[in-house]
Amino acid sequence: MTDISFEAETSAKAADSGANASARFRERMASAGTRSGVVDTERVNYLATKVVKGLNDIIISDRVSYEEYNALKAWLIRVGEDGEWPLFLDVWLEHSVEEVANEHREGSKGTIEGPYYIDGSPELPWNGTIPMRDDEPGTPLEFAGQVRAVDGTPLSGAKVELWHADDLGFYSQFAPGLPEWNLRGSWTANEDGRFEIHTLRPAPYQIPTDGACGQLIEAAGWHAWRPAHLHFKVSAPGYELITTQLYFPGDPHNDDDIATAVKPELMLDPHSAPDGEGVVVNYDFVLDPEG
Ligand code: DHB
Ligand code: FE
Repeated sequence: MTDISFEAETSAKAADSGANASARFRERMASAGTRSGVVDTERVNYLATKVVKGLNDIIISDRVSYEEYNALKAWLIRVGEDGEWPLFLDVWLEHSVEEVANEHREGSKGTIEGPYYIDGSPELPWNGTIPMRDDEPGTPLEFAGQVRAVDGTPLSGAKVELWHADDLGFYSQFAPGLPEWNLRGSWTANEDGRFEIHTLRPAPYQIPTDGACGQLIEAAGWHAWRPAHLHFKVSAPGYELITTQLYFPGDPHNDDDIATAVKPELMLDPHSAPDGEGVVVNYDFVLDPEG
């Protein structure tokens, strides 16, 4: 493959991600039925009034021109056309929603889910290997740990779901050409609440740059990078599910994540594997009881 066709292929993949993320989100909201996405009139009135007033205040105080207003209008239209509302919202707003949602927790820290979670990934034994291609590029990563309650009880049978991007930064089911469940799996912790995940170390990740979000990033002189990360959902009956991500020390984007989703508690401490093949790391998840 020449460099040129490689570039064409990778940017075509990026363009698909937004549309897929929108479609997936719609499906999830539909299957959640009336429980999801309905906010009562009083609250909509309160919040929508506040948002509109906030924007009007900015227009007045920052002397926003018709040129700037029309640039915004054109950009908002493009966000919809490119299917990039999930990307935009999850990069620039979700971290605050997560902060509010999880501030009561005593157990593990959460962070944003992002646009690329898919429910129902293949079930694996407590020490299973994540689904991947025969020639999947990347450094082997052995990720071991225990799921416990805040009182220290090991949570036998806890579920640990992991999803992450491949070595080029693509998520299966959002970029074309990848096996359906590539780099996605669900582990069931053993009787001691322990799990041992065999996967690959993810690479730093750029949010798609060829759509509306990329246009904003370029126009504002920002960058599109997230540090390399592993996404998790960890759950057990009777405990609050936690959605989180874990990061690798030394990544140049740990301090300027475009999605503002890095926290000190979410930093891993990886070591070289004893056999010299890849890296090993330990991380325990602590769940808060429900209710
Ligand atoms: C986005 C992508 C991610 O992988 C992530 O973790 C958060 C946000 C995005 O493209 O919006
Ligand atoms: Fe991600």
